[in-house]
Amino acid sequence: MVDTKIIKLNLIFFMIYSVKSSPPEDPIKCSHNTNFNCTITNSYGAFPDRAICKASQAIYPSTEEELISIVANATREKRKMKIATRFSHSIPKLVCLDNDDQDGGLLISTKYLNKILRIDQEDMSITVESGVTLRQLISEAGKEGLVLPYAPYWWGLTIGGLIGTGAHGSSLWGMGSSVHDYIMQLRIVTPADASYNYAKVRILENGTSELNAVRVSLGVLGVISQVTLKLERVFKRSITLSERDDSNLGEDASTFGRQHEFADFTWYPSQRKVIYRIDDRVSASTPGNALNDFSGFRSTPSLVLAILRTTEEYQESTNDAGGKCSSAKLTTSTLKIGAYGLTNNGFTFTGYPVVGLHNRVQASGTCLDSLEDATITTCPWDHRVKGLFFHQTTFSISLSKVKGFIEDVQKLVVLEPRALCVLDLYNGILMRYVTTSNAYLGKQEDGLDFDITYYRSKDPMSLDSLKILLKR
Ligand SMILES: Cc1cc2nc3c(=O)[nH]c(=O)nc-3n(C[C@H](O)[C@H](O)[C@H](O)COP(=O)(O)OP(=O)(O)OC[C@H]3O[C@@H](n4cnc5c(N)ncnc54)[C@H](O)[C@@H]3O)c2cc1C
Ligand SMILES: *[C@@H]1O[C@H](CO)[C@@H](O)[C@H](O)[C@H]1NC(C)=O
Ligand SMILES: *[C@@H]1O[C@H](CO)[C@@H](O)[C@H](O)[C@H]1NC(C)=O
Ligand SMILES: *[C@@H]1O[C@H](CO)[C@@H](O)[C@H](O)[C@H]1NC(C)=O
Repeated sequence: MVDTKIIKLNLIFFMIYSVKSSPPEDPIKCSHNTNFNCTITNSYGAFPDRAICKASQAIYPSTEEELISIVANATREKRKMKIATRFSHSIPKLVCLDNDDQDGGLLISTKYLNKILRIDQEDMSITVESGVTLRQLISEAGKEGLVLPYAPYWWGLTIGGLIGTGAHGSSLWGMGSSVHDYIMQLRIVTPADASYNYAKVRILENGTSELNAVRVSLGVLGVISQVTLKLERVFKRSITLSERDDSNLGEDASTFGRQHEFADFTWYPSQRKVIYRIDDRVSASTPGNALNDFSGFRSTPSLVLAILRTTEEYQESTNDAGGKCSSAKLTTSTLKIGAYGLTNNGFTFTGYPVVGLHNRVQASGTCLDSLEDATITTCPWDHRVKGLFFHQTTFSISLSKVKGFIEDVQKLVVLEPRALCVLDLYNGILMRYVTTSNAYLGKQEDGLDFDITYYRSKDPMSLDSLKILLKR
């Protein structure tokens, strides 16, 4: 899985409600207000090696016809192309053209391919252009009483991007947790030979091998222009986040996901604690109007971000394992007191279970809301301010083997009790259920996906503590 996933955060964010925030910067920048001599980066301002990639031109189609004409012209001129999105959230440099390609590399941005085209009540489906964000989709479908059953937890992703990378929520139920398994039809513009005027729109239906090749294809086969997704009628969920010690986690990991539809775990190995997400559908008459506004995805005062980052840098430079373990406890207990951003009625948290409509609790990301100045409050990872900067490591382990892995990590903690405190600074290890898919690059078997987020130095040559630990 090439995704980069969830950012879980540090400290007091949710205590400070912000008024001013700014939308993330456009990842593409070109010379002097033209669309030429451009650079692209991701939302963190850095790819794994160098900070930016180059392209000779960026182009922003707003209709499928324009897109066809762009792909045709570039194919005829034998130019290289890559597809970029409004926010560019992937950490790997999937979007980069060949390094130092000075001769015409073209970025095609889906920023203005951002329209909801159709919502079909009878079919329970939605058709969107590929630059539509998950947030737009949830909001527009919700107005018609429809929902996507499983989705990533961060709503700032585009439909093209999340299908291209296999993004997912957490479930073993229904057709599983990956958005690409809900595609009914997809339209993709691919290069073609001269007899087809150099570009072709392919309309791919679910159940065909072409569709199985195109979903999770990392943008290498063409530009996805439109997607039709299967939805369901909106339903209510009842959520309880229950903290337990981690002694049964190995056993529970393979069974918990069969017991609860939206199950996941947030594991703090150094504290030997784990949060079990007990999360299921309930009848529409169950009272509650819950809202999820996850603390780590809220707009955060830049001053707070700078303090957090400075503390972390200091602890790194002095190898202060004890300091990290104290910060880790503070972070996780603060998140817990704030119920991770859940409220029972949209305003206050009065206790579990939290009951509410699926479209109000499935994903969040209010730091995208645009008002004003990034130097006041912003998304915690905004690279325009001194904020959080991290590595993310994600891998999936099949349910039949996951117990062994968990027990190995537990043994590591016994050997080096403070070594994994660094993970808790970013809210531990998020473990989500992922499911077998017909997509060629999808999962081969049902498993648990582990998302690990941890400190990254701004100096690309430095070895951070977790990397050193993993090398031992
Ligand atoms: C805060 C945060 C939380 C996250 N949470 C989750 C989560 O809960 N679950 C999860 O699975 N992932 C999660 N992710 C990771 C996310 O799924 C991937 O980073 C996702 O691919 C990014 O989508 P994007 O729209 O930003 O696409 P980009 O990063 O811009 O692009 C990703 C790839 O898709 C290609 N692409 C984009 N649009 C098209 C198109 N129209 N046609 C063809 N190819 C295209 C691009 O060329 C590129 O190769 C999270 C990321 C962040 C930053
Ligand atoms: C882009 O760069 C090339 C080569 O450096 C230069 O000739 C050209 O004028 C530039 N174009 C713009 C629009 O800045
Ligand atoms: C593609 O090329 C044709 C012919 O040169 C031109 O008329 C058209 O505007 C070009 N399309 C785009 C989107 O640049
Ligand atoms: C796609 O087709 C498969 C069978 O090939 C079916 O099981 C699945 O429900 C279909 N998915 C959608 C979204 O229609």
